[in-house]
Amino acid sequence: MSKIGIDIEKAKQILQQGGLVAIPTETVYGLAANGLDKNAVLKIFEAKNRPHFDPLIIHTNSIDKIKQWVTDFPQWAKQLADVFWPGPLTLLLPKKNIVPDLVTSGLPQVAVRIPNHKLTLQLLESLDFPLAAPSANPFGYISPTTAAHVTAQLQNKVDYILDGGTCDVGIESTIVGFENNSVTVYRLGGLAIEDIEQVVGKVNVQLNQSSNPTAPGMLKSHYAPTKPLFIGNVVDFIKNNSLKKIGIISFCKDYNAEKSYSKILSPTKDLKEAAHNLFAAIRELDASDVDLIVAEKFPDTFLGRAINDRLQRASAK
Ligand code: TXA
Ligand code: MG
Repeated sequence: MSKIGIDIEKAKQILQQGGLVAIPTETVYGLAANGLDKNAVLKIFEAKNRPHFDPLIIHTNSIDKIKQWVTDFPQWAKQLADVFWPGPLTLLLPKKNIVPDLVTSGLPQVAVRIPNHKLTLQLLESLDFPLAAPSANPFGYISPTTAAHVTAQLQNKVDYILDGGTCDVGIESTIVGFENNSVTVYRLGGLAIEDIEQVVGKVNVQLNQSSNPTAPGMLKSHYAPTKPLFIGNVVDFIKNNSLKKIGIISFCKDYNAEKSYSKILSPTKDLKEAAHNLFAAIRELDASDVDLIVAEKFPDTFLGRAINDRLQRASAK
């Protein structure tokens, strides 16, 4: 029987029985299980080789359902949800006991999101529990944006892969919390801060920077390829590494360099298109015969900020 397809009924049955299904979302593919079933959630951590101190996002299709799992849905959360859900926005909300501590790594808040993908929304609608789902990659590697990416790395660890094509946004959701009477962005992602500020005014930004976290959820993920990745001036980098074959990630410029392999993320200089293409480009270069990868720094506005964040984490040593 095929392990990959568009059979929502099959996905539903597997999830109801406590199994693992890779699901498409508009950001990246998720590795999903029943978010209220501790044993099912444990399988996610095992399949990904993920440490238990790194908490999971739960996914569903309606705010009414979310209210069964959280004790409060503050006004700011409601305003953001009204404008941006379904979409690449995750909210941190105080959890009820029904949500296992394993999902939140013991934190009092649970991360929730209504994703914007037709197949997955149909699946979520048919379920009376949320789907806990981290990105469907082995811990520390780049998130998958196609079903083929999931197959390549996790095929033997999942019961089914729901194939929803290439992810639209291509970069993980933006994570927002509401502690201390203010709005704080904890992870840059597919929804730009500028767009959030249009709705709730100025926000705080407190990014997870620690590679040795003191608190759950504060892990500096690496999103790392196996080849060394550097950020900087591409021309200088090629000059200084003239004996090597270089993979180049650029926004819109064609460097036309000999002995190199170039990925131009958006010839028309569109940050959304660049974000959409980023992870697939890193994967392609990682799988190619280049020795090193060099990426330009992107403009530090809108989705360029999230792109720079992912490149930095991919390059972190
Ligand atoms: O776009 C996305 O968010 C994708 C798709 C599948 O929805 N999911 C995703 O999940 O990126 P993951 O597990 O790769 O990243 C989840 C991150 C955690 O590493 C942590 O930083 C943060 O979300 N997080 C989750 N629950 C949290 C909590 N209770 N408090 C603070 N941070 C939390
Ligand atoms: Mg991830």
